[in-house]
Amino acid sequence: MSDLSNLEQSLLKAVAAAADERALEEVRVAALGKKGSVSELLKSLGAIAPEERKARGAAINALKERVTEALAARKAGLGEAELSRRLLEEGIDVTLPVRAENRGRIHPVSQVFDEIVQIFGAMGFAVAEGPQIETDELNFSALNIPPSHPARQMHDTFYFAPKPDGSRMLLRTHTSPVQIRTMRAQKPPIRIIAPGRVYRCDSDQTHTPQFHQVEALVIDEETHMGHLKWCVEEFCRAFFEVPSVKMRFRPSHFPFTEPSAEVDIQCDRSGGEIKFGQGEVWLEILGSGVVHPSVLRNCGIDPERYRGFAFGMGLDRLAMLKYGIPDLRAFFESDLRWLRHYGFGVLDVPTLATGLSS
Ligand code: DAH
Repeated sequence: MSDLSNLEQSLLKAVAAAADERALEEVRVAALGKKGSVSELLKSLGAIAPEERKARGAAINALKERVTEALAARKAGLGEAELSRRLLEEGIDVTLPVRAENRGRIHPVSQVFDEIVQIFGAMGFAVAEGPQIETDELNFSALNIPPSHPARQMHDTFYFAPKPDGSRMLLRTHTSPVQIRTMRAQKPPIRIIAPGRVYRCDSDQTHTPQFHQVEALVIDEETHMGHLKWCVEEFCRAFFEVPSVKMRFRPSHFPFTEPSAEVDIQCDRSGGEIKFGQGEVWLEILGSGVVHPSVLRNCGIDPERYRGFAFGMGLDRLAMLKYGIPDLRAFFESDLRWLRHYGFGVLDVPTLATGLSS
């Protein structure tokens, strides 16, 4: 049977010599394929005398097995070698500087978010959070919003299917429920801002079904409307990066504050550019007021002892105003060209010391 051992040797040599997976596959087909040398040997068994057939058949099968094993071992070896080669070749040196064209940009919403946290952080506010899927109680009832209030309508609020007990979860329509969560979890004095995502059934150039708000809440024994005014004015000066802002507190109504006021700031839109702190146009930027005694009571806080103020503003709207972005919908379209134009440098972290937007 020296023909068999010769064949085996030449096949094993060919396996060892195969330089890549393609060459190895050729060796496999030439040996074990339909017309391969080993397959032909097996086919030839029929023509052999029966007394010799058994031994020869066993020998050919043993050879086939050894060749198959050698092929598998070589394949695994080649795979590993290929992987090591690719790892070497495609290795990334993370210490290299980023190419300008590959540099990511910070979304204006994230930028404004960071700016706001900086400003209020310096005033001693902590950042609070709440879930986006909220209960009817926290989003409405605890905030003194009556069952008949228009904001509770199906066409304004995204509700989930009712639970077996009849209650319905919803996508929070404002960040105000974080006020309730905070007051129920913490004892006064409280000073928080709560930035986050909110949802309403609405879509046009200045409304999207999902947008962002920032809530602010201060609860203490001595707080009053004057503190609210100072706080909002300081925020606007810092945020719009102007030495002074002209503001107007317009009487308004929110069920969770009494008195309530909407705040407008004055700006100049002549010359194709928007400038704050001067000009003829009034722009509404936030809703605010003194926290309603019923809201305090709903959170177990004694309204005879504690008072506070709150305000809420649209983060996207602030970003549009400050950075002159005309269409809100583009915020959510993930268009890279838009992001490259309106986005911010990754390493230009806004701080009050170095400037917010420079
Ligand atoms: N939650 C109100 C809204 O979404 C905004 C608001 C108004 C928040 C007055 C407040 C506030 O905290 O005091 O329209």
